Amino acid sequence: MPEQTVDLSVSLAGVALKNPVVVASGTFGFGREYSQFYDLSALGGICVKGLTLHPRAGNPPPRIAETPRGILNSVGLQNPGVEAFVAEELPFLRQYDVKVIANISGNTPEEYGIMCETLAAAGVDMIEVNISCPNVKAGGMAYGTKPELAAEVTETAKRHAGDVPVMVKLSPNVTDITEIARAVAGAGADALSLINTIRGMRIDVKTHRPVLHMNTGGLSGPAVLPVAVRMVWEVANAVDLPILGMGGVSCGEDAAQLMLAGASAVAVGTAIFADVYAPLHVRDQLRDLAAAQGLTAVSQFTGAVRAW
Ligand SMILES: Cc1cc2nc3c(=O)[nH]c(=O)nc-3n(C[C@H](O)[C@H](O)[C@H](O)COP(=O)(O)O)c2cc1C
Repeated sequence: MPEQTVDLSVSLAGVALKNPVVVASGTFGFGREYSQFYDLSALGGICVKGLTLHPRAGNPPPRIAETPRGILNSVGLQNPGVEAFVAEELPFLRQYDVKVIANISGNTPEEYGIMCETLAAAGVDMIEVNISCPNVKAGGMAYGTKPELAAEVTETAKRHAGDVPVMVKLSPNVTDITEIARAVAGAGADALSLINTIRGMRIDVKTHRPVLHMNTGGLSGPAVLPVAVRMVWEVANAVDLPILGMGGVSCGEDAAQLMLAGASAVAVGTAIFADVYAPLHVRDQLRDLAAAQGLTAVSQFTGAVRAW
C-alpha cells in the first residue's frame, strides 16, 4: 500500500492544534518534568495543573491509590496560584510551540472571573473552567452538578476572558450530563471538555480504613473509557459545541473512539503515569489508524460513529 499522508491538525473552538492530542490537567504539572523526556512541541496542547486564585497545598496523603485498570486520586488542586503560574510557569511553556490551556477552579464565580482576566491578559491560548473537581470542599464539583450554577460560572468566565476561548470541563458525577452541557452552552461556552474523574472509594480490609485520607477520590484511567465515550456521545448529540474528550485514553484506538463519539480532540491523563510517552504513542497510533482506514485527516473521525 502506498504511504498515505494524514493531516493531524484539528481546530478546537478556533484554536488550531497541530495534532489532536492534548495532555489532561493535573497529570502533566506545568510540563517541566516531562520536557526532560521529549520536546513539548510534539503535543497538540497542554492543559496545565488546575490553578486557583491563591496557592494551595492540596489534601493530606495518602492521595493516590491504584484500582483495577485505573487510579483513585484526591490531590485536591495543589498548585502555586494563578499569579505564580503567570510569572514562572507560562514563560517556560512559551518556549515551546504548543497551545497552553489554563485550567482554573474557583470558590466563587467572582474568583473564576478574576483568574480569567489575569490569564487572558497573560495571553494563554484557552481557558478550561473546571467545575468538576470531586476533591475539594468549596466550589469545584458543586458548580458542575447544578445547571444554574454551571451557567453562572460560565457567564462570569466569558465576561472576563476577552478573546480567549472558554472551555468548560464537565463532571461525570451527574445523572444527566446533557442537562449541564445545555446550561453551559446556553451561557456562552466556546467548547466543552469531559470527563473529569468519577467519584470512588477503596477500603483497606485489614485496617478497615479508607485507602485515601479524604475517604473518597476520583477514578481515572482505562477503567473509565467506556463511561467517557458514552458521555461524549450524549453531549455531542445534545449541543453544538466542540468537545475535548478524555477519560481512560491510553492508545490510538481509545482516542479514535472518543473522536467517533464526537470529540474534536482528546486528552491523555493517567496513562502518562504508566508511560511518559503515552501522548506521542496515542498521536502516532491515531494517525496510523486513520491511514489504514483511508482517511486523509484525523478530523474525519469526529462524530463519524454509525450509531444503531
Ligand atoms: C492526579 C490527577 C490530578 C488531576 N487534577 C486535575 C485538575 O487539577 N484539574 C482538572 O480539571 N482535572 C484534573 N484531573 C482530571 C484529569 O484531567 C482527567 O479529566 C481525568 O483524569 C480523566 O482522564 P484520564 O483517565 O486520561 O486520566 C486530575 C486527574 C488525576 C489523575
